[in-house]
Amino acid sequence: QTSLKDAYIDAFLIGAALNEDQIYERDSEVDDIITSQFNSIVAENCMKAENIHPEEDDFFWEEADAFIAFGLKNEMSIIGHTLAWHSQTPDWLFVDENGEDVSRDVLLERMQNHITTIMQRYKGKVKGWDVVNEAILDDGSMRESKFYEIIGPDWVEKMFIFANQADPDAELYYNDYSMAIPEKREGAYALVKGMQDKGIRVDGIGMQGHINLDGPTLEAFEESLLRFAELGQVMITELDVTVLPWPGTEVGAEVSMSVEFQDEFNPYRNGLTPAVEAHLHKRYVEMFSLFHKHADKIDRVTLWGVTDANSWRNDWPMDGRTDYPLLFDRANKPKPFVQEIITITN
Ligand code: G3I
Repeated sequence: QTSLKDAYIDAFLIGAALNEDQIYERDSEVDDIITSQFNSIVAENCMKAENIHPEEDDFFWEEADAFIAFGLKNEMSIIGHTLAWHSQTPDWLFVDENGEDVSRDVLLERMQNHITTIMQRYKGKVKGWDVVNEAILDDGSMRESKFYEIIGPDWVEKMFIFANQADPDAELYYNDYSMAIPEKREGAYALVKGMQDKGIRVDGIGMQGHINLDGPTLEAFEESLLRFAELGQVMITELDVTVLPWPGTEVGAEVSMSVEFQDEFNPYRNGLTPAVEAHLHKRYVEMFSLFHKHADKIDRVTLWGVTDANSWRNDWPMDGRTDYPLLFDRANKPKPFVQEIITITN
């Protein structure tokens, strides 16, 4: 039986994000899925600043080293995620010993050190890096993060310059979510185009694929894919399809989960209904059909996890949610549509 990675061998890489569980706990069934179906891996959490660089003079390498070793052993294309992100970044980066914001120069120096130290450790082992993650808001403007506040609007290009200096041979990507929103598409396009016009190397754009059953539309997603392909390679990153209703709060807001809430916002804790299953099936097949149609423009399609059991979607934006966003189920079995995704390439 053909695997996913073999089916798409002439199209694009098929990747999976690995988290703590899969990096540390060797479960032979899950390992089998990872090594037989995927030819690329990305670090779900272990390379984020908070994890890998918790204090100024303290890098925590153990988990990232294990992640890299696993990828090398299995001859996979290894992707680093992520060097500069407003979230999951430790506070020490932005403040001095009095708790005041550091100057632009100090933050730039700290980020250069952060980026250089990490990239050089894994030089020759990592194919490419999500250098900057999520710097643009849905309306296309720049996110007013700490990086933006302290460094200014040129903060993104500085990160790419540092990354290029640290490892001229690694691919460098800009990665963001909701990239099918027209305003965001144009904001991200302008950001990357602006850097490239100045001679700053950005090799590709990662379109995160945290989608739901109905949105974004295929047309909007396709339009962004084609637009970004004008600038370099496109990666479909962080693909997963939530089947759950959105609680209607602001993204990232704390939501407490009362019993009522559980009923309303965790409707499939005992399994999917056939109708939802069919919808998920259709959604995955139409997405992969779109990717395959544009295989000449796509370098990699990466799922944000391996099985439903380990997906971040289960507990977000509130604990206790049961989601079914990935290609493999909680019993480590491929979902029925995996076979159909494979046959798209015939
Ligand atoms: O590992 C600790 C554990 O020791 C501790 O007991 C537990 C208690 O909170 O936390 C665990 O860490 C959590 C980690 O996931 C591992 O499960 C963090 O709190 C939690 O914040 C972290 O969430 C990750 C999130 O990014 C924030 O970094 C998700 O797993 C990860 O899937 C998600 O990924 C992001 C991408 O990087 C960027 N794009 C959006 C995407 C989804 O939010």
